[in-house]
Amino acid sequence: MAKVKKIYVCTNCGANSPKWIGNCPSCNEWNTYHEEVLLKSTPQEEKRKVWQDGGSGGDPTPVALTEIKAGKTQRLITPDNELNRVLGGGIVSGSLVLIGGQPGIGKSTLMLQVALSVPVKILYVSGEESEEQIKMRADRIGALQSNCFILTETNTSKILAHAKSLNPELIIIDSIQTISSPHLDSAPGTVSQIRDSTSELQRFAKDTGIPVFIIGHITKDGAIAGPKILEHIVDAVLQFEGDRNYTYRILRTIKNRFGSTDEMGIYEMQAAGLREVSNPSELLLSQTEEELSGSAISATMEGMRPMLIETQALVSTAVYGTPQRSATGFDLRRLSMLLAVLEKRMGFPFGQNDVFLNIAGGIKVVDPAIDLAIVASLISSLMDVSVPSDTCFAGEVGLSGEIRAVNRIEQRIQEAERLGFKQVFISKYNLKGLDLERFSIDIFTIAKVEELYRNLFQDAE
Ligand code: TYD
Ligand code: MG
Repeated sequence: MAKVKKIYVCTNCGANSPKWIGNCPSCNEWNTYHEEVLLKSTPQEEKRKVWQDGGSGGDPTPVALTEIKAGKTQRLITPDNELNRVLGGGIVSGSLVLIGGQPGIGKSTLMLQVALSVPVKILYVSGEESEEQIKMRADRIGALQSNCFILTETNTSKILAHAKSLNPELIIIDSIQTISSPHLDSAPGTVSQIRDSTSELQRFAKDTGIPVFIIGHITKDGAIAGPKILEHIVDAVLQFEGDRNYTYRILRTIKNRFGSTDEMGIYEMQAAGLREVSNPSELLLSQTEEELSGSAISATMEGMRPMLIETQALVSTAVYGTPQRSATGFDLRRLSMLLAVLEKRMGFPFGQNDVFLNIAGGIKVVDPAIDLAIVASLISSLMDVSVPSDTCFAGEVGLSGEIRAVNRIEQRIQEAERLGFKQVFISKYNLKGLDLERFSIDIFTIAKVEELYRNLFQDAE
């Protein structure tokens, strides 16, 4: 019998040590080391044996790159266009895809929906829910098809044995934290279990050419629970995110070996499952006809798609000594920076006011082009003068109050025009190479925040 070996593994980065350490020398996190049993009495050979049958056969030998036939990667195109887009044009055969997201965001729903809509044989493995629970969810989604097989099993060897005999065209594992390899003694969800089970699944996918989707939970700070190593093993990492209080869900690519990481898909959670949102702008603009102060529309890009988003600001006199600042969907430090720019360059008294900022729809925006709309909404709320509702903005604001150029300006203007906006404010430095004749929308070019003020608010004083 082999000796039971124990090691301590960092749950954040996966580094290990023979002794417990308080502060991980590799990722600098505190209290992340946990004891894990490394090997069971089963010799390592046992573990390999599982793979010998059904493997690619023979040891690989070096091959000249020029002699390798490229062959077209086969992709399984699903009826879900958003998912296809995020994956770079469908599911690549033999790929291992990780879908991460907070509990309750809709990962199981999304995957079950895929399983029910793709007209091929699919194995859906659930370690979290019973067959009845899955059936109830499927009834809710509708669209039942007989080619979807449900397996409630958590042992990787048994899962793969079933997969081999069923020979499906797609496997979905819900979730990686609940399954475990029988070759390890540690409990499901521990770093070594997650790592080993994922590698087993990866080898299975590569050997058989069957694509595997694994669902992974996310910790509070946004990392996929378990080690970062998981991200290195899989071919693509998708993140399913959204605010629980809103119905929008965004599927983002974090890593993709077969496509771009700039893509994203938008869904809406409805009573009967997730619905693709192919035209996000129309949903994200508030439906009020009235012009309200403190609100401005930004022409942002989310991935490769232009999206018009409403920003709302509320500036009011601070009742307590220290003014409050709060931002939803936008970086609070960047808001402070924009407020400092407005105070310094234009003398607005934001220092004596509470400032609340909200991006409509529960969407998080990182595109710097939203700055200009935020500045407009802040001034609008402070002065209590509304921004015309047919106006939108796209520009980054620099530290000296200059409006900087942003990427893909033509797409942004086109989207604004398509949605019926009459005027758009952009940076003067975006003019190069821009064919103004093409657009019927009025394009205002500005170089400084003062010019924004002069154009929109000065007459109101
Ligand atoms: P779920 O897929 O279980 O989330 P996860 O697997 O990420 O933990 O989704 C859970 C939420 O989705 C739940 O709060 C109910 C909601 N939901 C709907 O609103 N409509 C539906 O059709 C379904 C199936 C779920
Ligand atoms: Mg789930």
